[in-house]
Formats: sequence, structure tokens, C-alpha cells
Amino acid sequence: MSQRRLFVTTALPYANGNFHIGHIMEYIQADIWVRFQRMQGHAVNFVCADDAHGAPIMIAADKAGKTPQQFVAGIAAGRKPYLDGFHISFDNWHSTDAPENHELARQIYLDLKKTGLIETKTIEQFFDPEKNMFLPDRYIKGTCPKCGTKDQYGDNCENCGAVYAPTDLISPYSALTGATPVLKNSEHFFFKLSDPRCVDFLEKWTQDGKLQAEVANKVKEWFSVRTNPDGSQSEGLGDWDISRDAPYFGIEIPDAPGKYFYVWLDAPVGYLASLKNLLEKRGESYADYMAAPGLEQYHFIGKDIVTFHTLFWPAMLHFSGRKTPDNVFVHGFLTVNNGEKMSKSRGTGLDPLKYLSLGMNPEWLRYYLAAKLNARNEDIDFNADDFMARVNSDLVGKYVNIASRAAKFLPDGKLVASREQSHMTSTNLLKLVSQNFEDREYGKAMREIMAFSDNVNSLFDAAAPWKLIKEGKADLAAEKSSEAIQMFRVMTACLKPVMPGVAAAVEAFLQCAPLTLENAATPLPVGHQVGTYQHLMQRVTAEQLDALFEAPAAPEPEKLTPGGEELAPTITIDDFAKIDLRIALIVNCEAVEGSTKLLRLTLDVGEGKTRNVFSGIASAYKPGDLIGKHTVMVANLAPRKMKFGISEGMVLAASHADEKQTPGIHVLEPTSGALPGMRVR
Ligand code: MSP
Ligand code: ZN
Repeated sequence: MSQRRLFVTTALPYANGNFHIGHIMEYIQADIWVRFQRMQGHAVNFVCADDAHGAPIMIAADKAGKTPQQFVAGIAAGRKPYLDGFHISFDNWHSTDAPENHELARQIYLDLKKTGLIETKTIEQFFDPEKNMFLPDRYIKGTCPKCGTKDQYGDNCENCGAVYAPTDLISPYSALTGATPVLKNSEHFFFKLSDPRCVDFLEKWTQDGKLQAEVANKVKEWFSVRTNPDGSQSEGLGDWDISRDAPYFGIEIPDAPGKYFYVWLDAPVGYLASLKNLLEKRGESYADYMAAPGLEQYHFIGKDIVTFHTLFWPAMLHFSGRKTPDNVFVHGFLTVNNGEKMSKSRGTGLDPLKYLSLGMNPEWLRYYLAAKLNARNEDIDFNADDFMARVNSDLVGKYVNIASRAAKFLPDGKLVASREQSHMTSTNLLKLVSQNFEDREYGKAMREIMAFSDNVNSLFDAAAPWKLIKEGKADLAAEKSSEAIQMFRVMTACLKPVMPGVAAAVEAFLQCAPLTLENAATPLPVGHQVGTYQHLMQRVTAEQLDALFEAPAAPEPEKLTPGGEELAPTITIDDFAKIDLRIALIVNCEAVEGSTKLLRLTLDVGEGKTRNVFSGIASAYKPGDLIGKHTVMVANLAPRKMKFGISEGMVLAASHADEKQTPGIHVLEPTSGALPGMRVR
């Protein structure tokens, strides 16, 4: 077989948090494929990088009191223990904020521009006047225009599910500052995907049979006129808005000061940037590598980012005169213990570092995920009981066991000739498993291996070498054991892409050359000396799984700030006595012309005359609500001249310090029987 040259990536994770188990699943899926290809003798460059840019990261950095660069560097510094811990064999880890990416993204953009596929349009967008920035949709909140639920996001309502534009929100506010956003014009850059050249190209590229069937079908819908969930019509491919205004953490657009590439424009370019960085570190030419005929390029991604990888990215590459991916491999989402889909940023349920710190074997997880994965984009669930069964009965019970049982009966650890005709079946297995790895049908491959293992175990049990020894048939015992060891070697080759650590230990035990799916078809020679067997793998315990899913110790309770504010400094009773609080009857209450905040109250405090008091409670009460009620007022407050007249006191009302969070103002009212003028003490 001639050597293939493969360039393989996984999606670039946002640099706003540590990896969660969903990321690790993607890396394991890709890593198994890459290790398989390397075992086949192919030349693979397997790279990834941090996706550093965009508004959410800029805002998170700001909140953490860091520059975006510092923030992203902090996240990047935490990547290694996960990758090493789970045997993920990336050749390079880079960043989309690295110079290679700035340069490549700008170059691709300039090449695209030459084709006439970039145009500018002025669009109207919400702007936060306090932060001085345009607000991404998810940073605009307000009242749902359909059902009236407060504090909904700018694109859809969590209560009624309505989908709308941020400009449809009632009383919109900035989630960053609470300010009312204003509409402002801005010039944006668009990639004209609606251009017939793009549509033609993409219809061919996505429908030529390379993509998974379910992915190709989904993508097809985006080309056609369709009805959106809210009933509106979409007209096929729309142009893609690729610019954002400063301040933005990203790559500045050439010849457009203050304009930046939208993060999803430069993110996939990061694949190329990481590869370029790798090749240049090795003293190789990136240009030559990419230009070489026969280079294959594959991206492993999750089902949530298909549009970017099957429309925008191939179009960017094709129309800038570059090589397009040979395929995009889409997987489903991992859930944990039937949990809902993990939050993208947090992930829940299974903390990968906790898994490692409990001494749980990373290869258990690799095997378990392999057993569940197929070539479709179906979701898969990590289930603790299922995990325990697969690891303990399949992996340890069926596979590892063969070696530990058979090794005992080899005379001086030497393999003897065997009359068994299992060569055919093992050659078959190796072929079948190879094909399944190539097709990313790992689950099928694992089932084939385990069925084979069942066979080997039952032959061994039927031969019962421990009995043969007692019956003085040590030769036959050695023969049956040699046979089992040979088969164990074949199975190890099959499992090597999934469990590279175990495979290395087996190679050491068998004292054989590094296993491949090809060389494993040739049995070790008669008389081959194997080493001493050392236990290859422990069983997973219920205690480990309990500990893994045990909720982390409750965090220190936050210091409670009642009503949203600290208590005022302590006072003495004499201080309190200075405030003269009296029961007042609200004899009249009316709106104040020219003020949306104030109500004018006429209060009887038992003085034989009434007092005029302005109170900022108009948001909570209509004038008629309060007339005839009793309340409490500060009766000895110095009169204050206001725009609308003199205020002769103050009524008492309760409110939360953060009215946005807990709205409402509540005027105090005594229980029945209190009379105007009574002192409150
Ligand atoms: N930064 C973008 C990708 C840019 S690629 C040029 C992004 N990052 S992400 O961190 O949100 O997701 C990274 C990858 O992890 C994606 O392929 C995503 O589908 C995958 N997963 C995120 N949660 C997942 C699960 N729960 N299960 C499996 N994969 C999941 O999107
Ligand atoms: Zn609603």
C-alpha cells in the first residue's frame, strides 16, 4: 500500500474554559483514527489550537481583570494534563491569535476580495452607550415581544420559544451594563455566499457523496427556500457577515481600521496556522506541503458546527484558490448518565481531570468510547453501570485475562508449534478491524474483537491446560497456551489505536516488534521467548465511579448581603431617636406632570394640616392604589425644594439594591389600628 499523507484536525476549542468531557471525546475519536493511520504506515500531521478570539472571550477577560491575551494564555497553560493524561497524540497545539493565523487569515481574505465575493453593507445594530461597543445578540436582553417574559436574550425567548431579532425586544437593555442600547449604523463586510458561483460550488461540494448522509441531507436544506421555526421564510444561502467593530479581540481587516474579522472567519484558518507552525518548527515548507498532490485533509467536529465547516470554510478555501478539505467527520454529543446535553462552556457530570486524579485508567475511557462510537453523528451517553460492565467484563474479563491465564503454561516462556488452524480467522479479524477503523466504525471493530476473544477463551476453557498439566500432558498445555498467546497478540494489534499504553506493555511482555495490523497476521515464530507476565490492567471499582460522580464539596457559602447590600454601620439608640417616624394617612396621591418616577402624596400626620411629599414610587403604584392607606414617614426631615415643589418629609418603602435583578418597590403599611401622628419607635 502506498503511503498516504494526511492532515487531520479536531475543532479548535474556545479558550474561555478548561476542556470538558465532550472535548475529550472528540479528541479520543480523532486520536484513534490518527493512531490507526500511523500504524498503517501513513504520514499524519494531527494538529489543534485554541480558538482565542471573539466577544465572549474579550468580555470574560475584562471581568477577570486581564487582557484577552493574558486570559487566553492562562487557559492554554492548563491544556497539557488533559492531552497527556488521555494519550491524545497531537503533533502541535497552537493559537488562533498567533502571527501565522493573523497573516493567513488576512491573506485568505485578500484573495477572496479579488474574486469580488466580498462586499460591504451598512447595517443597524444595537450599541451600548456606556461600554461604547456594538452588542452581540447574546448580550442584549429585554422583554419577549410575544409572551411578555422579562429578561430574555436577544435572539429567542426561553419561556415561549419565540425567535426574533434583538430589535424586536421590548425595553431592551445591555447585559453588560444594564444601559438602554441605541441603534447605530455600522458598515459590515459580507462574504457573498448567495452569489451563484458559491451556491454552485457548495451544492457540488456538499452533495458529491463524501459527507455522511445525514450531514449532507441537513446541509441540503440550507440551500433551499424554507420555513423557519417562527413561520418566516428563508431564501436559501444568505450572505455571511464576516466583520465586527472595535473593540473586538480578533484580527484587524486589511485596509479597514477599526474593523475585525468575526471570530468564525479566522477560527478555521487556525487549522492551517497550527500546521504551518508545526512544519516551520521542523524546517519544512508549508507551501510545498499544501501543494503536494494527494495530500488529504480531514476535520473532526461536533454536529453543532457543521455550517461553518461544510459551507463557509470550503467556500473560503475554494474561492481564495486553496485546497478544500477531503472530508469533515461529524460526531454527535456526549451526555453523561443520561444527563441533558452538557453546557458547551461548563460541561457537567464527568470532570476529566477528576477522572485521572482518582487513578482511573484513561484507556478504560478510550475503550468505552470506542465501543460506543460509530460513523454517524448520533449522540452517545456515558453511563456509569455500562462503563463498569464494558471495562470489567470485556476488557479485563475477556481480553486481558487471556494473557494472564495462558502465560503460566509456556515451558520456560517459549512459544511452541500449534496445530490449530486459527491463522485464517485472525487474518480475517485484522482485515475487518482495519476497515472498521478506516470507516470510523469503532463500535463494530470492538464488537468483532470481543467476539474473537470469546472464541479464544472458550477454546482455552475447553482445552483446560491446568487439567492437562495434571494429566501429564504438558506438551498439549503448552500448545494450547501458545495458541492463546498468539491470538492475544492479534487482538492487541487490533486494540492498539484505542489502547496504546496497554499495547506497549504487551509488546514488552511478548518481546515482539511494535505491532501493526499487518505484521500481526504473521505469528511469532516457534521458540520465541516471551517475558514474564505482569498484570496489564485493573478493574474499575464502584467506589471509583461513585467518587467520580460525587458532587464536589459545597463551596463556601457566599457572604449574604441582605436585599443586595451590606448593612450600614452600627448606630446607638440615641442615633435612632433622632429620626422621628410617624404614621401618616395618604389622603391624596397623584401623578406628577413631567416626571415618570415621582408621585405627589398628600399626607395627614395628625397635625391639623396636611403635608406635601414627593416619592419615587411611580413605577410601582398608580395614584389610586395608595389613597386611604396608612404608611410610615420621616416627619422631621428638613424640607427639600424640588423641581416640582417642596417635599416635606419622606415615606418609607422597601426595595432591593439591584432593582434590575429584583424589581419592585413596596411602601410600608402598619397593621390595622395605627392612627395618623403615632410615633414609630
Ligand atoms: N471554537 C469553536 C470551534 C472552532 S473550529 C474552527 C467551538 N468550540 S467549542 O469549544 O465550543 O467546541 C469544540 C468542539 O467540541 C466542537 O466540535 C463541539 O461540537 C465539541 N463538543 C462540545 N460539547 C460536546 C459534547 N458534549 N460532546 C461532544 N462534543 C462536544 O465550537
Ligand atoms: Zn416569550
